[in-house]
Amino acid sequence: MGVSDVADVARIERLSSPAPWEDDLFRGCLRPDYLCRVMEQGAGVVGFAIANHAAGEGHLLNLAVHPDWRGRGCGRRLLWTVLRLLARRRVTSVFLEVRRSNERAIALYERFGFAVIGMRQDYYARGNGREDALTMRREIDGAEWTASGGAPVDSWLEQEM
Ligand SMILES: CC(C)(COP(=O)(O)OP(=O)(O)OC[C@H]1O[C@@H](n2cnc3c(N)ncnc32)[C@H](O)[C@@H]1OP(=O)(O)O)[C@@H](O)C(=O)NCCC(=O)NCCS
Repeated sequence: MGVSDVADVARIERLSSPAPWEDDLFRGCLRPDYLCRVMEQGAGVVGFAIANHAAGEGHLLNLAVHPDWRGRGCGRRLLWTVLRLLARRRVTSVFLEVRRSNERAIALYERFGFAVIGMRQDYYARGNGREDALTMRREIDGAEWTASGGAPVDSWLEQEM
């Protein structure tokens, strides 16, 4: 992901989140301790994932797929890519927050071995109110994510889009 992708990424974000990040927030993520990846299909960007890391801990900060492209494996590919890149940077634990009502995302994260470890009350804005976040964590075993592609979800990732 580069500066030229920010407009497309922000457009997907606005279609995906009740409290979307502004363009500047995406631009601010374009730095070495962050991982920012877009998925492209044909002419354009259809999804993105953003994570950062420090001292062996990774944090998945944002992940979204354009509504027209959901349910075709883009989310799992993006998540797999980011986890693999974090593992290569010697991250051993990955954390994320997800809206409590976001069953689709929670299902995706559970499928990838994330488990709920806590809840943050009123963490997210939602309309005029607030919504709780679930905090989820997954340990990463570096050997599981080697360059040879031995990730446990490989066969699942190979399904048709
Ligand atoms: C969450 C999101 C990124 C998933 O992307 P996607 O491309 O649709 O996901 P995939 O097609 O790769 O599906 C992966 C898994 O997600 C879950 N999932 C996908 N669509 C689902 C649906 N309609 N209902 C329930 N679970 C669903 C399933 O676990 C699925 O695995 P399966 O196909 O083996 O059942 C996408 O729905 C999205 O952009 N949502 C809005 C933004 C958002 O909520 N981001 C997460 C912020 S924490």
